[in-house]
Amino acid sequence: MGSGGAPYPDLHPGVLLRMLGSNPICRSVVLYDRIDSTNGAAMRAARSGTSGKALFIADEQSLGRGRMGRSWWSARGKSLLFSLLIRPKREPQGLTPLLALAAVRGLGGICGDVMVKWPNDLFIGERKVAGILAESRDGAVVLGMGLNVNETEEDFPVELRGKATSLAIETGRRQARGGILVRVLKELGGCYDLWCRSGLEPFVVELERRLLYRGEPVALESGGERITGVMTGLTRDGRLRLEVEGNVRILASGDLSLRRVTE
Ligand code: BTN
Repeated sequence: MGSGGAPYPDLHPGVLLRMLGSNPICRSVVLYDRIDSTNGAAMRAARSGTSGKALFIADEQSLGRGRMGRSWWSARGKSLLFSLLIRPKREPQGLTPLLALAAVRGLGGICGDVMVKWPNDLFIGERKVAGILAESRDGAVVLGMGLNVNETEEDFPVELRGKATSLAIETGRRQARGGILVRVLKELGGCYDLWCRSGLEPFVVELERRLLYRGEPVALESGGERITGVMTGLTRDGRLRLEVEGNVRILASGDLSLRRVTE
């Protein structure tokens, strides 16, 4: 399905564009009933020459992609699944935490307890509510987000129960996916020009306040290596600062996973 005649009133492209107004990062919207992956769709559009500021949304994904080659589970009609294609004029580092912060801000009026689990997850309490997958090629950057909106506990596959949550579970109310998407994109649009000029630095203090496990012992695993230390915060460009046996270690995101150490 293209941008016309959407059967999902909460994701109607025309309505979304009107609500977004003159947003600096989103000028067109394509809504799919079902697609392999909105990141895939955005990347294909980039390869065929689509200029940036294009948004791809799906009611359902058949091959949703997560970080580190994982798949991304989602429930038809309940998850917010979108990918934004942009062509930024600076290196894209920092866009994942920027989107995370925009989502935290955008969700603020709905659920105030959303935290950023560095580098790309949003958590409420101990459970994941959203993940971000950023991919880039030849100057095109695709920022994909999967946000659990109206899932019930029973909707989640057994292996995700107790680990994943949704906005409906946390607030006790169904939410309109389009309204949430607009809130997040308005926040991202509001940050984008400053990020283009100054990078992530202007946002780091606020991000640090929202950083899950800050001040706590954590373990990072990357390519078979395990580093344990206390998470002390972020660098000006959004890398993680860890205190390891009295020394500061700076870690870039990449293929690594982060856990709290409880003993
Ligand atoms: C992660 O937590 O590993 C990142 C998950 C990102 C999932 C979203 S859903 C929309 C977009 N399309 C994809 O295939 N992946 C991202």
